Amino acid sequence: MSMGPDQPVAESVDQLSQRSNAILGSLRDRAEAIRATENREPLFKIGRAAELVGRTTGAIRDAERDGRLRAPERKQSNFRLGYTLSDLNVMRDVFGTRPWRANSDAPAILAVQNFKGGVGKSTLAVHLAQYLAVRGYRTLLVDCDSQASATMLFGYVPDLDVDEDQTLYPFLREAERTSLQYAVRDTHFDGLKLIPSNLRLFQAEYELAARMALGNSVLLDRLREGLASVSADFDVIVLDPPPALGAISLSVLRAANSLIVPVPPTLMDFSSTAAFLSMLNETLELLEARGFRSDLQLLRIVASRVDENKSIQRELLGMMKGLYGHHLLRTVLKDSAEIDNATSRLMTVYEQNGPITSREVRNRCLTYLDGVNGEIEVEMRKMWPSHASRLRQEGLV
Ligand SMILES: Nc1ncnc2c1ncn2[C@@H]1O[C@H](COP(=O)(O)OP(=O)(O)OP(=O)(O)O)[C@@H](O)[C@H]1O
Ligand SMILES: [Mg+2]
Repeated sequence: MSMGPDQPVAESVDQLSQRSNAILGSLRDRAEAIRATENREPLFKIGRAAELVGRTTGAIRDAERDGRLRAPERKQSNFRLGYTLSDLNVMRDVFGTRPWRANSDAPAILAVQNFKGGVGKSTLAVHLAQYLAVRGYRTLLVDCDSQASATMLFGYVPDLDVDEDQTLYPFLREAERTSLQYAVRDTHFDGLKLIPSNLRLFQAEYELAARMALGNSVLLDRLREGLASVSADFDVIVLDPPPALGAISLSVLRAANSLIVPVPPTLMDFSSTAAFLSMLNETLELLEARGFRSDLQLLRIVASRVDENKSIQRELLGMMKGLYGHHLLRTVLKDSAEIDNATSRLMTVYEQNGPITSREVRNRCLTYLDGVNGEIEVEMRKMWPSHASRLRQEGLV
């Protein structure tokens, strides 16, 4: 079937769309094949495991010797493969070092939000969720965007692998549903669950907007109710919203108690973010006037996709520091080939066990990611009264 120059546009669109889907399908198959040969789940050497679990390597070895812990698998060469995340979580149970919130602490609901497209929201949301899971928090990542970038970073091609019934969509439209549990799925990170998305969620955007226009503003709280129906099982929920002010973004603002706003230091992104902040301000005031008081307790801005080789970016970054003050995270998320490479394989930097670019580039990238995510982790713990004394002991407040 070839596309003739005179064929109606609708036919060309149909053909192009079918071909694109076929390519996405083979891309997904290739990503799966790569995964079958490489280790997708991250592995940790004993020193790193000890650090993450909060005990010494000696304590781990003692527990393995006296049978409280199972020793990790070895290859024929008697070489330890390393510990998996579920091994780490068993250790945390044995040593009593789970970092969970107390039941009396509210779950953290972090929205990685900016109405500007392409600022790195999904990249940050997924790496943040995986980082928190590795640290032992019970984490849920909710893909609220019909573009489904976050879902793709878990190796799914949304419109081939995810059914609309497995997304937020049914819950948002059907008032009789009382729980979002049906959409929560396991991932290859122990302790990290995902609510995936696909293109169909775009429909919810229209339906919600139409019904809200008819005066049904209670719908704004539908996502918040859905999250409340599953949040008892989680310490933290990370939301990845679409890049526009619409019904779903508004619902995300209602559901979240923390906003993390990625802003690349370019003039366009800076100016869009200024517009985002003033729209946010108006929206919060409007909601408050209608009796919807905001739960937002935390606002942090992250300089993202930073290229410090560009002098204009260094300049803008300096200005952002002065302007945003303590709201700007100290660590900046630099532009990294490692992130690009992982993304194009439908993977993330945290799940790779070896470097894709070079060890140096990979380690640098991990340093930024861990720095940004670590700062967010501390802010999250500050919202939990049960963590207050531990944060003081650790010298973090
Ligand atoms: N720190 C980074 N280094 C390199 N590439 C990055 C970085 N952050 C984001 N990207 C790339 O930029 C593109 C856009 O990122 P991402 O999808 O995370 O943005 P977004 O804000 O979620 O976009 P949208 O508004 O469409 O939802 C992706 O191709 C991603 O791989
Ligand atoms: Mg996105």
